[in-house]
Amino acid sequence: MKEKIESIVSQLKNELEKDLNLVDLEALRVSYLGKNGKLTELMPLIKTLPNDEKPQFGKWINEAKAEMESLIAHKKNVLLTQQMNEKLANESIDVSLPGMNFKKGSLHPLTLVTNDLEDYFVGQGYKVAEGPELELDYYNFEMMNLGVNHPAREMHDSFYVTSNTLLRTHTSPIQARYMEKSKGDPIAIIAPGKTYRRDPDDRTHSHQFMQCEGLVIDKNISFANLKDTLLSLAKHLFGPERTIRLRPSYFPFTEPSVEVDVSYVDSDGNIGWIEVLGAGMVHPNVLQMGGYDPKIYSGFAFGIGIERIAILKYKIDDIRQFYTNDLRFLNQFKGVL
Ligand code: PHE
Repeated sequence: MKEKIESIVSQLKNELEKDLNLVDLEALRVSYLGKNGKLTELMPLIKTLPNDEKPQFGKWINEAKAEMESLIAHKKNVLLTQQMNEKLANESIDVSLPGMNFKKGSLHPLTLVTNDLEDYFVGQGYKVAEGPELELDYYNFEMMNLGVNHPAREMHDSFYVTSNTLLRTHTSPIQARYMEKSKGDPIAIIAPGKTYRRDPDDRTHSHQFMQCEGLVIDKNISFANLKDTLLSLAKHLFGPERTIRLRPSYFPFTEPSVEVDVSYVDSDGNIGWIEVLGAGMVHPNVLQMGGYDPKIYSGFAFGIGIERIAILKYKIDDIRQFYTNDLRFLNQFKGVL
């Protein structure tokens, strides 16, 4: 009888060696110690034994049961610990793994030029002003000395939205808005922004483009101040070896007016000139309408084509590149600041 009991215990030991999970273990417990379990099934045998063997048998059974229960409990502990460790391992964060990769964009070349102009002029004490892209005819033309029947209005073939609002054709209306706001105080601003004209798009024309306006008003502002400002700007933008050439021109809002060319040296060593901006002394009518007495105040203004600067600076061959969002073009400006 003793052997029988011992063999059941060692059977269980063998089973416990196997690869088990908690469900298997419970099934195993039932199959040995449950109601119809292998050990439980031996118990009725006690009745068949002579009286003096009964206590001994009972003792063996109880000892076997206690041993088997403790073996199962131990195994259960081992499995639970294993399970916990696995769970912890799965949930843990490996901080040494590479992070999520976000695609990095880069600044648009027109933003690069705008930022550079802002930095440069803010460094000289200018403020940066803004105005609406959907502008009133009043600011875009009238306040810029282009009266309703002024022939120069033909120069701006515009996108009208209503009879008196249009997409601004230049950044000059920001001058008028700023003068109105400044109520006679001295002004030094630049105003970069988008502008629109009804030009058919080609390599050198775009119906949408950008300008950066400049306006300085104070007592005793002279043409020499304007020239010095433009020369310093050209050197800043294109290099200290550059110089400028002023050609007489016409803008309704400035008098006198000039076109400004910047020098370059071609591959044969010849000096050439590239037109980069328009400028002039603020017209007395513009000062007057803006609330500045032209007998006391004077000023200069300039309008830079931002695409023009970017084209020259980055050697771009087609203005449409700025507006077609071709990543092969845009990615070339990664890392340029
Ligand atoms: N507004 C002019 C243009 O769009 C540029 C300009 C600005 C000229 C300021 C002179 C002074 O052509």
